[in-house]
Amino acid sequence: MPSPFYAAMSDADVKAIVAYLRTIKPVKNVIPKSEYYIPLPANYGPKVGSVPEISKDDPVAYGEYLAHSLGHCTECHTPVVEGHTDFNLLNAGGRILPNVSGLGFTAVSRNITPHPETGIGQWTDEEIKRAITKGISRDGRELLNVMAFSYYDKMSDEDIDALVAYLRSVPPL
Ligand code: HEC
Repeated sequence: MPSPFYAAMSDADVKAIVAYLRTIKPVKNVIPKSEYYIPLPANYGPKVGSVPEISKDDPVAYGEYLAHSLGHCTECHTPVVEGHTDFNLLNAGGRILPNVSGLGFTAVSRNITPHPETGIGQWTDEEIKRAITKGISRDGRELLNVMAFSYYDKMSDEDIDALVAYLRSVPPL
């Protein structure tokens, strides 16, 4: 779970998710223990205090919140260099996702900065939204089913507009 990203979720959003989890019908399902082939971190960073609600008045700041803490777009779309997410290359793509969900393919995330040649700088807003919510790239190619397109498709228009405003605001790489 991308806990370091979720750590920046606002108190109100975390509470809403907990409230939702409490409404789910209990289902008995015995699950085997996880097996880890890597040393686990001692913890996931310092304890989180209180995170205030993020205002929707500033679409870029709100879009950043959606892309980072809720949608964790920035996690998948930032490369890992020597075992660590390299935030100097924020949103520049190139993260390798081997054997996604055991489906037998390796996906490489794309550059979603506004760079005109290697990123999405020349894409229209509609093309960006279509990629996120329908999984179709600018050239009409169907994207590998790695991103949760069908879930992102349920975002409100206001939220997806904020997401696009944020993506347009980051440095082109
Ligand atoms: C689980 C990892 C993951 C997450 C989370 C994720 N993406 Fe992606 N995304 C990918 C991969 C991998 C591709 C490339 C798939 C392919 O090439 O078929 C991609 C493709 C894209 C594309 C199309 C780029 C192109 O050149 O075709 C856009 C735009 C995009 N993602 C934006 C986002 C946004 C915005 C979010 C958050 C709302 C997000 N992604 C979340 C992994 C992810």
